[in-house]
Amino acid sequence: MKRFIIAVLTPFRWALLNWLKNHRVESRFVSWKAEIGRKVIIRAGSEVGPDVSVGDYSYISGPRAYIEAAEIGKYCSIARQTVIGVSGHDYHRVTTHPFISDPTYGFAAKVVPEPQKPPPIIGHDVWIGMNCTIHRGVRIGTGAVVASDSVVTKDVAPYSIVGGNPACHLKYRFSEQAIATLLASEWWNWEEGKLAERLPTFFSVSDFIAMEGLPNLGRDSDADSVPPERE
Ligand SMILES: CC(C)(COP(=O)(O)OP(=O)(O)OC[C@H]1O[C@@H](n2cnc3c(N)ncnc32)[C@H](O)[C@@H]1OP(=O)(O)O)[C@@H](O)C(=O)NCCC(=O)NCCS
Repeated sequence: MKRFIIAVLTPFRWALLNWLKNHRVESRFVSWKAEIGRKVIIRAGSEVGPDVSVGDYSYISGPRAYIEAAEIGKYCSIARQTVIGVSGHDYHRVTTHPFISDPTYGFAAKVVPEPQKPPPIIGHDVWIGMNCTIHRGVRIGTGAVVASDSVVTKDVAPYSIVGGNPACHLKYRFSEQAIATLLASEWWNWEEGKLAERLPTFFSVSDFIAMEGLPNLGRDSDADSVPPERE
């Protein structure tokens, strides 16, 4: 009965919260305990667990995105069918099956929690392509791109593009100097009025650096170019 009432009330609850908190949760499968920022969009068919925080303006595409645990920054784009932060079983025990730790199976008297790595930490302005898996314990730097169908098992540097299984560095988005300047700008923390005003400069990194009068940590002509490889 309780489940039925929750199922019936959930869409109304999200409709109310969307209106009050200025976000757009379209999915019924988002935990009420998840922290959802302003103007966040979570599309229908996505599942988001209680140990998830999503920063302002980020979006999670459905269907079949499954975010179990994660700290997600602002302005992130997470494509459909992506799986983030799932927990696992302790393979150092005699069995990986949970009958030894979960009373559901009739053996264990009480739940014995299994050790888990910490949830992934995803920076700002990260684009995760479709059908990716992001493991626990990793940090994905601000501005990074994860190519479609990748499995991320290690940390990803800011503004690096990674791909494959396991995901490896493919290239950087911009020159080393431009990356340093973008990180120093912290544009993702700007107030909305400033962002709206500066919108045209977001189409070119060299325009952005020039217009902002930011300390250009490199030559303008280098800003949009890809740097020599560095691992
Ligand atoms: C990451 C991505 C943006 C790179 O695009 P790009 O710069 O045009 O990439 P290129 O085709 O020039 O490939 C660059 C290198 O990355 C490799 N690569 C590209 N996509 C890859 C992937 N998904 N997995 C592994 N390697 C990949 C290429 O093989 C190439 O390797 P090489 O330099 O050894 O030849 C693009 O491949 C991608 O994955 N887009 C995601 C699309 C998506 O999921 N959209 C969902 C809706 S938002």
